[in-house]
Amino acid sequence: MAQGEKMLISLDEILRHPDHRRFSFILCYPHPMDSEVSSRIRELQSLGVEALVFRGRANLHGVPVLGKGHVGVVVVALRGGRECALKIRRVDADRGSMRKEVEMLRGANRVSVGPRLLGYTDNFILMELVEGKNLREWLREAQGEGVRWTLRGLLERCRRLDVAGIDHGELSRAHRHVIITPPGEARIIDFETASTSRRVSNVTSIAHYLFFHRENSQILQRILGQMDLQVLRSKLKEYKKELTDERFREILTLTYLLNGK
Ligand SMILES: Nc1ncnc2c1ncn2[C@@H]1O[C@H](COP(=O)(O)OP(=O)(O)O)[C@@H](O)[C@H]1O
Ligand SMILES: [Mg+2]
Repeated sequence: MAQGEKMLISLDEILRHPDHRRFSFILCYPHPMDSEVSSRIRELQSLGVEALVFRGRANLHGVPVLGKGHVGVVVVALRGGRECALKIRRVDADRGSMRKEVEMLRGANRVSVGPRLLGYTDNFILMELVEGKNLREWLREAQGEGVRWTLRGLLERCRRLDVAGIDHGELSRAHRHVIITPPGEARIIDFETASTSRRVSNVTSIAHYLFFHRENSQILQRILGQMDLQVLRSKLKEYKKELTDERFREILTLTYLLNGK
């Protein structure tokens, strides 16, 4: 397929398609087996998926997809004529099903965080499609008043996860797990390493990523204002101990996200 091309394939077309090996490879990445491919297609039918749409910035053997991680391959799927994101469990994933991730995503959805869960089976999670720039790209182009609104929204989402007792687990490497949609909403994705048994550190992890990571810190201080990082560090420690609204507000204030400069 040519660069940038998009391709829609209905489920009943997949096995008959001249390119079916490449699609099987995506459904059972990275070791496709005919029996597993057929059983996964049945699973998708049970989820109400009508077609897969191959587009996106990642690429698997020449087929564009939304993304690839160590647990899943993510593609666009159509259900009821609407585009959704479909996370496909890799056959070499270190877990037998997506159930734990589904539970975590469900918990996050309860506090309005994460892509909305639309359905699941052992091998698939069907969820809301979240498109935009990843946090790193967005930060490189960030400017203007909207930055404050976006980041405050991101910290508030992290705060809601903290209050709900769900630790995302990968927000210190947030560039791949936060997507900024065109209206400027910061959405958190990928609850695969999330846990309700660890001590929560969503706010502190994202704050470290944003304000202590050298490049990000420079960009944001230029836009938001000069920050006292030593004070911020100690306030984050206090927040982590107490997890109170008051401590959270102090962090928003110190980073100029509450009222600006
Ligand atoms: N709901 C979604 N909407 C749009 N793209 C998504 C969605 N979920 C995941 N992706 C894309 O797929 C990539 C891999 O997904 P991720 O959930 O991180 O997989 P893994 O658990 O294997 O790390 C992400 O970095 C992102 O680009
Ligand atoms: Mg991931």
